[in-house]
Amino acid sequence: MKILVIGGGGREHALIWKLSQSNKISQIYCAPGNAGIAELATCVPIPANDLDALLAFALKEEIDLTVVGPEEPLVNGIVDLFSEHELKIFGPSKLAAEIEGSKTFCKNLLKKYGIPSGDFASFDNIDDAIEYIYHHGAPIVVKADGLAAGKGVIVAQTVEEAESAVYTIMRKKAFGAAGEKIIIEEFLDGEEASFLVFTDGDIVIPMVTSQDHKPIFDGDQGPNTGGMGAYSPAPVITDGLFRRIMNDIMIPTVKAMAAEGRKYKGVLYAGLMIKEGIPRVLEFNARFGDPEAQPLLMRLQGDLLPVLEACITGHLAKAMVSWDERPAVCVVMASGGYPGAYEKGKVISGLEAAGKLEDVMVFHAGTTTNEKGEVVTNGGRVLGVTALGATIPEAIERSYEAVKLISWPGVQYRRDIGQKALKRLQHF
Ligand code: AMP
Ligand code: GLY
Repeated sequence: MKILVIGGGGREHALIWKLSQSNKISQIYCAPGNAGIAELATCVPIPANDLDALLAFALKEEIDLTVVGPEEPLVNGIVDLFSEHELKIFGPSKLAAEIEGSKTFCKNLLKKYGIPSGDFASFDNIDDAIEYIYHHGAPIVVKADGLAAGKGVIVAQTVEEAESAVYTIMRKKAFGAAGEKIIIEEFLDGEEASFLVFTDGDIVIPMVTSQDHKPIFDGDQGPNTGGMGAYSPAPVITDGLFRRIMNDIMIPTVKAMAAEGRKYKGVLYAGLMIKEGIPRVLEFNARFGDPEAQPLLMRLQGDLLPVLEACITGHLAKAMVSWDERPAVCVVMASGGYPGAYEKGKVISGLEAAGKLEDVMVFHAGTTTNEKGEVVTNGGRVLGVTALGATIPEAIERSYEAVKLISWPGVQYRRDIGQKALKRLQHF
């Protein structure tokens, strides 16, 4: 089979690494890919959001299955476009991807079907939004309705901060069209966790749990990023809570989407806030998380390909999904300055030595090769150094052992990935 993976981050490298182990796959293409992906796949320089060029490529190369990594092409309808041309593609349709593409749609759905989440209101008018903020008080959360690459969320500690967030999004249009509508939400307190499932629109198969680290600095300080590291499992999700999340959130959401005529096929990812054992939905994503995909796919056993195919054909009930008992930890290494401005083109040293460590994978995100053939930085998040270990502490130790072998001028990474899990484990 010929496979095309769309995207070029750590998530896509992990997907390609996993798919490359399938004996049913003869060739993998990736658009646009990165330096690490280029070792396993043929990279083609098509941006992930150029739907027409991706379609033309898939038709020309007679791609048997396309796997979509990021949200943007999904929300823009790549699955519908490919399906119209009888090309097999993994991911939700445009109508189904709206669960990530419009926060208002998502929150209305949750409310209508009684799925636990915080209170909210949507506005397309500045004055009404500000009146609502003054009426409800702070802390309060202001979000652009549409896709804003994870940046359109402001957790405001004061009403003044919330008011200024409304101006930033609606008047200054800091997130473009994504901010034509805003949503104002109740602030939810607690510990976050990521819960991902495979679904064919009917059957729901959970993955193991995970937790991201969104802020740039240790101790969850500083601005939010795409994610600075992740571990799996997340001990905050006990067995009882796991069942509750499936029964009260994941299965009802998949059923609700079908009832709304938006049958959801693909990976559905819930960002949850957990307080005193009660889970509530912060948001849904229409895809694998990044960096969560990296530890999750290292723990996934067996062939990923038939699972993806079963989601498309509606045969997920027959799919086999099993997981390595060993925890995995991913530490993201980023460019100095990220999530603000940063320089590119720094030569990365130590990749070979780190890659030789057992049960360690150095997944590439923002990397490319320079004219001398050296691997250089090419983005904010550069690498996702991911390790399996017998225990969470061992997985943490092994991933940092690999991280310490790698460097470039200005590199930054968090030193405390996984510490939250350790704190919880000490409680038991
Ligand atoms: P989102 O992109 O909606 O997940 O928001 C990004 C981050 O903002 C989340 O991972 C949370 O840390 C925080 N956040 C979003 N919504 C809320 C909320 N209602 N209450 C508290 N924190 C939130
Ligand atoms: N890890 C956050 C995301 O993928 O949206």
